[in-house]
Amino acid sequence: MNAMDDVLIAGASSRSTDPIEHKITSLLADMTLEEKIGQMRQVDASGDQINDDLRNAVKAGRVGSVINQVDPDLAYELQGLALEESRLGIPLLIGRDVIHGFETVAPLPLAQAASWNPELVRDCARIAAREASSCGVNWTFAPMIDISRDPRWGRIAESFGEDPFLTSAMGVAMVEGFQGDDLSNEDSIAACAKHFAGYGASESGRDYNTTNIPENELRNIYLPPFKAAADAGAATFMASFSDIDGVPATANAFLLRQVLRDEWAFDGFMVSDWDAVRQLSVHGLTENDKEAAFEAASAGVDMEMTGDAFVEHLAALVNEARIDIETIDQAVANILRVKLRCGLFDLPFASKERRLSAATAESMNAVKALATESVVLLKNDRRTLPLQKTSVNSIAVIGPMANAAVEQLGTWTFDGDERRSVTPLAALHAHADDAFDVRYVAAMESTRSLDTTSFDAAVAAARDADLALLFVGEDAILSGEAHCRADISLPGVQSQLVKAVSETGTPVVAIIMAGRPLTLGDIVDHTDAILFAWHPGSMAGPALCDLLFGVTSPSGKLPVTFPKMVGQIPIYYNHKNTGRPPSPSSVIHIDDIEIGAAQTSLGMTAFHLDAGYLPQFPFGFGLSYSEFEYRDLKLSADAISPEDALRASVVIENKGAVTAQEVVQLYIRDLVGSVTRPVKELKGFKKIMLKPGQSKRVSFELTCKELSFYRRDKSFGAEAGEFQLWIGGSSVAELSARFSLT
Ligand code: BGC
Repeated sequence: MNAMDDVLIAGASSRSTDPIEHKITSLLADMTLEEKIGQMRQVDASGDQINDDLRNAVKAGRVGSVINQVDPDLAYELQGLALEESRLGIPLLIGRDVIHGFETVAPLPLAQAASWNPELVRDCARIAAREASSCGVNWTFAPMIDISRDPRWGRIAESFGEDPFLTSAMGVAMVEGFQGDDLSNEDSIAACAKHFAGYGASESGRDYNTTNIPENELRNIYLPPFKAAADAGAATFMASFSDIDGVPATANAFLLRQVLRDEWAFDGFMVSDWDAVRQLSVHGLTENDKEAAFEAASAGVDMEMTGDAFVEHLAALVNEARIDIETIDQAVANILRVKLRCGLFDLPFASKERRLSAATAESMNAVKALATESVVLLKNDRRTLPLQKTSVNSIAVIGPMANAAVEQLGTWTFDGDERRSVTPLAALHAHADDAFDVRYVAAMESTRSLDTTSFDAAVAAARDADLALLFVGEDAILSGEAHCRADISLPGVQSQLVKAVSETGTPVVAIIMAGRPLTLGDIVDHTDAILFAWHPGSMAGPALCDLLFGVTSPSGKLPVTFPKMVGQIPIYYNHKNTGRPPSPSSVIHIDDIEIGAAQTSLGMTAFHLDAGYLPQFPFGFGLSYSEFEYRDLKLSADAISPEDALRASVVIENKGAVTAQEVVQLYIRDLVGSVTRPVKELKGFKKIMLKPGQSKRVSFELTCKELSFYRRDKSFGAEAGEFQLWIGGSSVAELSARFSLT
């Protein structure tokens, strides 16, 4: 057997008859070492980086991919050079971050998770793929499926939140949306599951920081969404910038080879993050670029995103016999496999005719639908919402986010076209249509402004109106990569603005647009209702207008826990019980401790003296304009064997006056385990629509798979014993039953 056979046999024995594998074999047989290393190189092609050096490198077969060029003419030209003028005619992968939409911008991924509606997430990814591919893009660096338990971390905006089950469902939906029915369709683009793995655990929520994740936690919490993405056919993976257990992911053979290739049989390719190969030396893992190239390629990085450690040093490393040619061939085979699956050899060009010159109504409707479902109603005292068009004469629209076309798009939207943004102010004007007055006072130039000189005008507008809508939050630039905050309250003087407006006595509805959970503090007391809208994207205005006026009832639920204070972080619903769990009666507040009290006079349980142990708003929480009653929880059996499935069902009735959607959530707890188990784990959800008075029995099926976890001996499986199960409208669901696994 020669080295080439080895490459092809690794990972899948039936490949010999696969035409893609045949093509890979014949290409590899023809390629020089330089051409192979060229495939492992991605070049930044933004702005003026497209020059003769790049053109010549493409023609010489020394570039496998370019990133950040979305001009269809330039993409067309570069693909032409690769296909027609390079010796072997291997097409380029043209990569771009399409994180939450392309020209038409969908809500932030974190907001998308709040919809608990994977179908809408899939639809919006499909639209983004159509728009991006029409510009020549054939590969995107999404979904980002890092479990994020830290709202200080700016990149929580790009994530689907804190839960492995919800993140897996959303990640899979996004992969399916980007890649379509067939990766080789001209409007499909290859997905990239990132950042592998553990990036969300960056210490203190500071970007790029080190992570400390024990293997059991890594496997039970951080890796499941990546496994789900691999199983869903995600074409590529990206290694994380962060280090784990002392080894940066870019050089981490445990992650990149043992877990991804050996255990999961992933056969797409692994790209580094931006210049992350050379940064191995900055981490202090390697002395120079050559050693960095050695570590990354040996560990299983197939392509270097920008940086030139591979192109400069891999050939020497092969010639010195430090890296086997098989390692190079395997990497190149992985890359070619994706190019072939994408059909790039047959359909490489973004034809100019496909270029979409304007958002279609379909795109705008899809992002509006997702925005509408992603908004979470956090508070609604005395049924302040929905508003009745016929019973308001005037509305004061106040705040820096009311008419901020760029800010409502959120982070990392390089191709988002703010001219398509419909702001809340514009939508309210359109909706009012002379039926009521809209009095607008921005009051602050941006969310970070410290100037209060316009507060008087805002207060006057609120005083004269029937209702004040306060659009506050964070500018788009305050979340996303490298935009972390240690204080996650409303920036600038927004809290004072809310207070000043609330003191008028006019009912106040806060609409908060932000890239992360915020510590809302007094805002909760100073408002009558709160809609947490994240950054909703192009159609923020129409979506919010529909919710405010009750065209649609809010149905978003939090995909991440909202802390009361930063010091509670990390705070997440699926925590461990500890040996001394707190309870309402064990918690004492700092102000209530007697002077001179004995050390042991406190509850001696796991809580903070100033914040207790409960969050501001729990995972899975979100109100509706209706009320839902959960009753009659039934299990198909009290005990199941590992081969059986358990059916759990509950009746939900809409007890309110409006048609509304509800997210029915199923949680379990494994009461005794060989390792300590979370107090609750989401294992199912369904979003249903009920008319007033309508009831429905909703069922879930649990199999041994959902009861399984990585155990003390590192194996994966379920353990016999008792489980508790809850079904309800949030992670604090109370309706519960027990069953056992025999
Ligand atoms: C980010 C990646 C992104 C890449 C390309 C990096 O800084 O960490 O998530 O895909 O840039 O833009």
